[in-house]
Amino acid sequence: MNKISIIGAGRVGETAAYIIAQQEMCSEVVLLDIREGAAAGAALDISQSASYFGFDTRVTGGTDPALLKDSELVVITAGSPRKPGMSRSDVLDINRAVIDTLVDDVLKYAPDSLLLLVTNPVDVLTWHAWKRTGWERGRIFGQAGVLDASRMAAFMAEETGLSIKDIHALVIGGHGDSMVPLTRFSTINGAPATAFLDAASIERINERTRHGGAEVLALRQISSAYNGPAAAIATMVDAICYNRRRVLPCVCNLDGEYGQTDITGGVPAIIGRNGIEKVVELPLDDAERSGFQASIDSIRADLKQL
Ligand code: LAC
Repeated sequence: MNKISIIGAGRVGETAAYIIAQQEMCSEVVLLDIREGAAAGAALDISQSASYFGFDTRVTGGTDPALLKDSELVVITAGSPRKPGMSRSDVLDINRAVIDTLVDDVLKYAPDSLLLLVTNPVDVLTWHAWKRTGWERGRIFGQAGVLDASRMAAFMAEETGLSIKDIHALVIGGHGDSMVPLTRFSTINGAPATAFLDAASIERINERTRHGGAEVLALRQISSAYNGPAAAIATMVDAICYNRRRVLPCVCNLDGEYGQTDITGGVPAIIGRNGIEKVVELPLDDAERSGFQASIDSIRADLKQL
């Protein structure tokens, strides 16, 4: 891929740019931020690590939306992060206005790009951005499930004492407290995770996964999580750049899948160079299906606040 732009040079955007550049996923990364100097400074700092890592990806930054021109992929991380005690939905009003402006910039300067939303509440804002673009639904999607599943995998590694390399976890639903960790679809090198975990461990893993972001925020106080979110963004960007056609949990615009229409939520999907190719429908059992429905219902409730 030639050019990727990341809007929002906060910790998540900056760290994602750093990973993407280090791994040379594209020739050029542009960081954008409305705060004078924030993106340019971050870009300069990242560039100055290139000789250590040996990467040729050019990293630049600035405030002018025209810098988006010719981007093939735009990642939006800009917005107000939540403070301790706030839910992701609490930042909806502020961030909806931010997204409106940024989507209009993308429509103006990078009308042929793919758009990856990260700003919270990500499910609602991905739906909102999708409607505003009028794009074909696979071109616009959000990051949440890769992070949530990665947290679940970390907790599974902790509970079992086994290598994270062998662990595959899966989380669907909205990126909020009602997300649905799917133990039944999680594996340890092909073996069902349930073979390694008792009911109490599963409950602990699921509980910590559902509140994974809040646990980090409560400890740190002055910052939400960013290393995990940035790695999750990079995972999706890598799948797109190399057209890997990975099956990753993504925030997808649903059109009948899982019995849901005109709503956006986290489901596994095939993701590659053209964005979301196809939503993968899993044979959920009754409890999983009702958990997913409850989670989608909470996204619909947030949509009413828009
Ligand atoms: C998290 C926030 C950023 O999950 O959504 O860490």
